[in-house]
Amino acid sequence: MKKKILFVCLGNICRSPAAEGIMRRLLQEKNLDDKYVLDSAGLYGGHAGELPDNRMRQHARRRGYDLTHRSRPVKISDFEDFDLIVAMDDSNFSRLKNLAPTIEGEKKVVRMIDFVKGFPYYHSVPDPYYEGSEGFELVLDLLEDGCLNLVEQLEKEG
Ligand code: 4NP
Repeated sequence: MKKKILFVCLGNICRSPAAEGIMRRLLQEKNLDDKYVLDSAGLYGGHAGELPDNRMRQHARRRGYDLTHRSRPVKISDFEDFDLIVAMDDSNFSRLKNLAPTIEGEKKVVRMIDFVKGFPYYHSVPDPYYEGSEGFELVLDLLEDGCLNLVEQLEKEG
């Protein structure tokens, strides 16, 4: 059975599609891509159908990630369809917990920052939308760290 991971942020045009792209490449590098299904979604559906934000795509491309996901809103069926739902910040986390239709679904919701080891002063993956370049670079730094530890933990669990 493949493990299914859904990354969630607000707009699904910056953080969560970046997390999905980073995780996708990481799994390819580790020859684990057959074992996982990845997707991302947003709690705000206003960008549905859009490619990731141009700034995010540019910053990601410089690190070799090609982000081609199309934004979509979180669906109630996601709580059934995915094994793990990874929230970028506390607002995403609590909104997802509230949306979960079952206790099992609620338990699938985790915080990306809890997998990040190298940035102890950060308590979320902060929304870069109104930030400059540093905000986007920070998001990528946090996500590269968090995705690596997340996959290591999942592989240990088997
Ligand atoms: P994201 O960033 O949640 O990382 O995709 C945002 C994108 C759009 C908006 C907010 C955050 N927005 O308000 O439109």
